[in-house]
Amino acid sequence: MFDHLPTAPADPILGLSQAFRADPRSDKIDLTVGVYKDETGATPILKSVKEAEKRLLEQETTKGYLPIEGLPEFNRAVAAMAVQNAVSLDRTATVQSPGGTGACRVAADFVGRHFPGTRIWLSNPTWVNHQSIFEAAGIKALVHPYLAADKVSLDLSAMLETLKKDAKPGDMICLHACCHNPTGIDPDAAAWEQIAEVTASKGILPLVDFAYQGFGDGLVEDTVGVQALLKKHEELLICSSLSKNFGLYSERVGAMTLVAKSPAAATAALSQLKAAVRCNYSNPPRHGASVVATVLGDADLRRQWEAEVNGMRNRIHTMREKFVALMTKLTDKRDFRFLLKQKGMFSYSGLTPMQVDWLKQNKALYIVGSGRINVAGMTEKNLPVLAEAIAESLS
Ligand code: LMR
Repeated sequence: MFDHLPTAPADPILGLSQAFRADPRSDKIDLTVGVYKDETGATPILKSVKEAEKRLLEQETTKGYLPIEGLPEFNRAVAAMAVQNAVSLDRTATVQSPGGTGACRVAADFVGRHFPGTRIWLSNPTWVNHQSIFEAAGIKALVHPYLAADKVSLDLSAMLETLKKDAKPGDMICLHACCHNPTGIDPDAAAWEQIAEVTASKGILPLVDFAYQGFGDGLVEDTVGVQALLKKHEELLICSSLSKNFGLYSERVGAMTLVAKSPAAATAALSQLKAAVRCNYSNPPRHGASVVATVLGDADLRRQWEAEVNGMRNRIHTMREKFVALMTKLTDKRDFRFLLKQKGMFSYSGLTPMQVDWLKQNKALYIVGSGRINVAGMTEKNLPVLAEAIAESLS
């Protein structure tokens, strides 16, 4: 049966990161996958996480299965963090998921099963995995414009015009809560109000991909989009990742929160979400969620974690500033100041696939083919080298 299977292409992000690991060049630099790195180039275990793990090691009494929906205290804390006070938690149903990707897939399976024929609008561009996740659940993906012709700002009117013209009631839209992946270009508060107005008036269900809470302007500030949507929508879906803001990548920590019109509707929806989980991964892993619940449930640990999130965000911003300052000195071929307005780990650099390939072959500098750069991979040490390489690729 398997003799004639064609080889699938490598994943544009994780495949590249694998190619990076296999590259023997000692001066290689990795700006691919969206993983935070500190000034030494390491992906650290947060101190708050280590402390929570110590406590768990001493206090944990079982490795028995979690309920299908996951750890209750984790689910409550994550839902509260995502919606803040915009909606009462008894109108929410949350299931713990293996990472934000798992959350998107649970949402997709749930919608695909109960609302067949649903279509989803994705921004052009969006995270490379979105289309595959939704289409795997039988949901047709459509694209709406996002970037302006300058490729460094949002074309809000083009986005909204397309939705007004072509969206149908019952469609979904995948909106990145903050730190848009791959562009780093987010709607501001006024733009979010307009998006919410259009999605609500067209009867579109928002699915908010909340992968980078805390990496934009702050843990609370980054809920601006969710809050604007909740003013206009009584129902929506939020797919949270805790893998990034807790640095718990390999623990795969995420959650899918459904906001319903009433507590009774939320309870019924939870039973259906559990059915979607049961036939997928049965029930979620305990460790990462226990760490998050321990940190969020302890005032001191939570304060420590919030400071660590602020530290990660500030370091990324400083690297943006230093990179822009260097590029301004090194080249007049392109003005890189747009990076200062972008949020989160990613920047859409404008580098072409040919330039990206040249950088990989000749400079051992790895960037995603779309030109997306993970700014969090920049350090004081690699910055001069990578800036010179990028400047050279432009000439
Ligand atoms: C990314 O976009 O680099 C991350 O979300 C990791 C992934 O799974 O692609």
